[in-house]
Amino acid sequence: SKDHLVIFTPSGKRGHFPTGTPVLTAARQLGVDLDSVCGGRGICSKCQITPSYGEFSKHGVTVAPDALTPWNAVEARYDDKRGLKKGRRLGCQATVQGDVVIDVPAESQVHKQVVRKRAEVRDIIMNPSTRLYYVEVAEPDMHDPSGDLERLTAALRRDWDLPHLEADLGVLTTLQAALRKGEWKVTVAIHLGDAVFSPRIISIWPGFYEGTIYGLAIDLGSTTIAGHLCDLQTGEVIASCGMMNPQIRFGEDLMSRVSYGMMNPTGAAEMTTAVRDGMNALFDQITGEAEIDRQLIVDAVFVCNPVMHHLFLGIDAYELGQAPFALATSDAISLRASELDLNLHPAARIYLLPCIAGHVGADAAAVALSEAPDKSEDLVLIVDVGTNAEILLGNREKVLACSSPTGPAFEGAQITNGQRAAPGAIEHVQIDPVTKLPRFQVIGSDLWSDEDGFDAAIAQTGISGICGSGIIEVIAEMRMAGILDGPGLIGSAEQTGSPNCFPDGRTHSYLLFDGTAHGGPKIAVTNTDVRQIQMAKAALYSGARLLMDKFGVDKVDRVVLAGAFGAHISPKHAMVLGMIPDVPLDKVTSAGNAAGTGARIALLNTDARREIETLVHKIHKVETAIEPRFQEHFVNASAIPNAVEPFPILNS
Ligand code: FES
Repeated sequence: SKDHLVIFTPSGKRGHFPTGTPVLTAARQLGVDLDSVCGGRGICSKCQITPSYGEFSKHGVTVAPDALTPWNAVEARYDDKRGLKKGRRLGCQATVQGDVVIDVPAESQVHKQVVRKRAEVRDIIMNPSTRLYYVEVAEPDMHDPSGDLERLTAALRRDWDLPHLEADLGVLTTLQAALRKGEWKVTVAIHLGDAVFSPRIISIWPGFYEGTIYGLAIDLGSTTIAGHLCDLQTGEVIASCGMMNPQIRFGEDLMSRVSYGMMNPTGAAEMTTAVRDGMNALFDQITGEAEIDRQLIVDAVFVCNPVMHHLFLGIDAYELGQAPFALATSDAISLRASELDLNLHPAARIYLLPCIAGHVGADAAAVALSEAPDKSEDLVLIVDVGTNAEILLGNREKVLACSSPTGPAFEGAQITNGQRAAPGAIEHVQIDPVTKLPRFQVIGSDLWSDEDGFDAAIAQTGISGICGSGIIEVIAEMRMAGILDGPGLIGSAEQTGSPNCFPDGRTHSYLLFDGTAHGGPKIAVTNTDVRQIQMAKAALYSGARLLMDKFGVDKVDRVVLAGAFGAHISPKHAMVLGMIPDVPLDKVTSAGNAAGTGARIALLNTDARREIETLVHKIHKVETAIEPRFQEHFVNASAIPNAVEPFPILNS
């Protein structure tokens, strides 16, 4: 028979095939990424393609309308039942009859690109660790005795070219019933293996399983835990949930949890149980919201700081509370869900990203994975602001990392009227340069405090305090309005010309809001609050500055603010305070929850796991505690914006 030219788009791969070759077969031979779960049996419909007809001058071919066979019975049946989009064909049914150009739409690619969310810098290409395969298995035969599992794995090897497969006990206990119920046709979920696990069947369904399987990307923070449930075939986020970390009852911050563990013989174990219980509660919430069976969750990726990492795994975090801050292991970890008492599919794989160092955890590794400083042409400074600032500085040449003890002031803690970011918290502040009077916005309303309708709008929530981003803005505004001087002292009403400055002990405070007439709070910024922020921002800046020293530069090209808090900080105010180095404001971006994004990347693409495992070894760790220059930078950075360094861009 005659050979025909077959060209696939968008890959551009091409070859010659005899009349009657199924499109799926041609695709496979050319290494074109065309999905199939049923192995070409016309059941799964994952192999959909769109043939193009007409003239293709670029390729020098003319495609006649009969270049593929017309619809066959399988396609007609499928269209009847499910509907086939206009122009679509099943690649395993349509066969080549002439020269043809065939487009493989994104959804028919195994390694499809996941739709990028706002603020995400890199594309996610699907390459999940666990996949579904449909097979038809030989029936047992008295004359050729073999076990059901052996015949199943033989069929999988034959149809899918898979390596030697093992099966979990859970699969063995359900295998025989599934094979017989499905009349020797089954769908299996196979974990394709990693450094720890060999390829394994982890779940089995009789017949063709029409549904999907899921994975979880979890950002296990010291304050909150956030999870995203993803479809492991499409990469789509199906549901997202968040909750408070139940370990909070053992201590607000990490060091108090470490000391709880030191002071109580069962402390570490209690905290491990608490976080795992919390995790299971989160799974309840997220599977409830998505209305799926938790047994369908077969993979989960966790990112967390080193203390959470250890406590989650059941490792005492004692060593992390003291120099030299040795981790039990900094490598990535692969486990089964059942080993951590997690209520998912018992064979679900758990993957923890590697830690960078004793103070720079898997969460920072996840940020490195999502922000990819190692692929950046320009020099990028990435700060993940929390109670500890985790800082990365790098470009294609090298990447440095450190953490700096900013303390909880940026989260509104240890601030007189500070509070968490929640309805009722002041989050944005402006001070009029002439009247020196403040106006502000409260979480829960878009109106400014001097606009009509503001009182009515916040009647529900009230005004309860000031959150982290609010405190940064008000202090920066005070500095710009001349209410606060460079060293950080609030002036008196006479000195500043602001009626809102009032004596407060031996210093002065600045009144933001007085609700006392209506039984509300009086919200002011005290000089102690200013000091707290000065310390926190000095820690952050000197960490960044130290990395710049080590890199041998005195400026960076751009700054990325990561973390939930980073998403709310105003770059201008951060720079007025001297929190971050002087760069043009349009070079400061927010990455949102970059650690969570990193977890999702690692969940959906196993190559990304290898990538970050390699990258953490290359990241150069800088320990701020033993660097003399850190102290020097810290002292200079305590002034607003800085005692010695000019901020030329800021001042222009
Ligand atoms: Fe399953 Fe074509 S490969 S329907």
